[in-house]
Amino acid sequence: MAWKKACSVNDVAVDTLRKFDVGGVGVLVANLGDEFKAYPPACPHMEEPLEQSGVCSGGLLTCTKHLWQWDMRTGEQRAPAEKPLLMYDVRLDGDDVMVNVEHELEYEYEEEDDDDFEW
Ligand code: FES
Repeated sequence: MAWKKACSVNDVAVDTLRKFDVGGVGVLVANLGDEFKAYPPACPHMEEPLEQSGVCSGGLLTCTKHLWQWDMRTGEQRAPAEKPLLMYDVRLDGDDVMVNVEHELEYEYEEEDDDDFEW
């Protein structure tokens, strides 16, 4: 198991997200008030950094770039999002927010279609 400390519970204000380097893995930690969640840092849509483009409100995360939205507790998508949020396992150890980064989570993005480029 690769549980590592991401931050302290006081490092992330309620209803906000913050990015941390957890043993070389970029992780976004969210404080929902009664629990912490952790996600990969890029939007599943077009890799926008959710630390900047993401807004948390009422347990929902919205990427302001194209308004994809998710339930922050389950990762489930809400229209118009087409992919769920991936989530890391999180546990608290005293005041430490611990994240299991044994396997880095990454989204698969569709390749740009360059076929119409001709020499
Ligand atoms: S990049 Fe986040 S919704 Fe499009």
